[in-house]
Amino acid sequence: MKLEGSSKPEQISHWNEVFAKKPSFFGEEPSDCAQSALALFRKDGIRSVLELGCGQGRDTFLFARNGLAVTALDYSETAVSFVQEKAKTAEITDRVHAQIHNVSKPLPFPDNSFDACFSHMLLCMELTIAEIGFILHETHRILKPGGLMVYSVRSNFDRHYRTGNNLGEDIYEIGGFIIHFFTEEKIRMLAKGYDLLELERLEEGSLPRDLFVVTLRKAAYPEEGKS
Ligand SMILES: C[S@@+](CC[C@H](N)C(=O)[O-])C[C@H]1O[C@@H](n2cnc3c(N)ncnc32)[C@H](O)[C@@H]1O
Repeated sequence: MKLEGSSKPEQISHWNEVFAKKPSFFGEEPSDCAQSALALFRKDGIRSVLELGCGQGRDTFLFARNGLAVTALDYSETAVSFVQEKAKTAEITDRVHAQIHNVSKPLPFPDNSFDACFSHMLLCMELTIAEIGFILHETHRILKPGGLMVYSVRSNFDRHYRTGNNLGEDIYEIGGFIIHFFTEEKIRMLAKGYDLLELERLEEGSLPRDLFVVTLRKAAYPEEGKS
């Protein structure tokens, strides 16, 4: 499965500016989503995590400080440099590896290489359903058999749903940010190749944001068992 992703230069610049202005745009504390993922990762014996859309690393450092090896990706070079610097200062560069990557492109890792994947509020960015399907296909590829994928997205219950400029599908431009809102049906449709372990609603931040938190376990694709 291959998809030629656009480079999304305007949103990349927007995120770079946002992060350059505020050293902890989403706050210093780890997200609730990451804290519950950490509890699950511990129970499941997870040691290596690939984080997509790490931003300034509030969740990256939660995982790393709790002994997990984290590879953190983001397309914002400002965010990635920030995480790299913070890892050096905290002397945990052995457990935090941050690199620039646009998730519209194939993940630069071999098959079956991570125990878990985590992504907080990335899949609800400027990504079409086709691109999100591609990303989940890629995370499936790089996860070890039985590996976990935990992600969160803005829900159709969010107070900003259907506000701003509609850019097609359920994608809206709101105050300079491009946001894709998800229904439960969309999440179930995207779970192909995974067992859907949990789908829950969570309110986060001062807005607040209404999120779906999705926990998936890598399974075989339905067609793979047939031949
Ligand atoms: C809503 S922020 C969440 C940041 C972080 N997960 C957190 O909760 O603090 C979304 C992040 O995804 C990144 N991002 C958006 N689209 C991306 C893409 N196509 N590839 C890689 N990163 C992307 C942005 O730069 C930003 O850091």
